[in-house]
Amino acid sequence: MSNGDASHDAPAGDSASAAPANKVPEVNKKRRYFLIKATSAVAAVGVAGVAVPFVQYWNPSAKAKALGAPVKVDISKIAPGEMLVAAWRGKPIFILLRDQATLDALDEGIGNLADPDSENAEMQPEFAVNSHRSLRPEIGVYLGICTHLGCSPKYVVTDNFPDSGGDQGGFFCPCHGSRFDLAGRVVSAVPAPDNLEVPPYRYETDTLIVIGELEGAA
Ligand code: FES
Repeated sequence: MSNGDASHDAPAGDSASAAPANKVPEVNKKRRYFLIKATSAVAAVGVAGVAVPFVQYWNPSAKAKALGAPVKVDISKIAPGEMLVAAWRGKPIFILLRDQATLDALDEGIGNLADPDSENAEMQPEFAVNSHRSLRPEIGVYLGICTHLGCSPKYVVTDNFPDSGGDQGGFFCPCHGSRFDLAGRVVSAVPAPDNLEVPPYRYETDTLIVIGELEGAA
């Protein structure tokens, strides 16, 4: 169900690549999209650099599961233009590193967004009411669930908006054709009614995100 050359199915392996927290180098368009498993022992996974089944590292209690226990995600190895996929409450969490050109494009918008200013307060915490819909501009964190009927959209690196010109990437839902920009903002006149949800999250360090917790909650 890919969307042309620019979208990619997530491979089954685990890997990640680093970028300095405040420096966003050029996008390496050969490196796209990869999958990790969020674990409470994420640092150990990162050091080992080995793909290990999720349950071997993170096996929360039934109570913790019911509460949707926070998960920690190491983003130290993600490179500009790449997206990794973590899991929280059994749902995919998209985490992508955007370059400056992408941020500039988000400021500009594509002109036909349904909720460009994130006015629907249910779709993001207060901190994400901005053009990039995130705590740090360069790092986007979104629930990878289409707001129409719950399919998981594809990450499209470029040319997600063939009708709008330009080469902006975004997310494309193959189920019924909804499109979102790289801040998870949905375009008008597609089946999805809302922007992608931004989960609660905070940074424990520059390279460690805690999904499921807000700043000051730890
Ligand atoms: S589920 Fe995404 S467009 Fe319908």
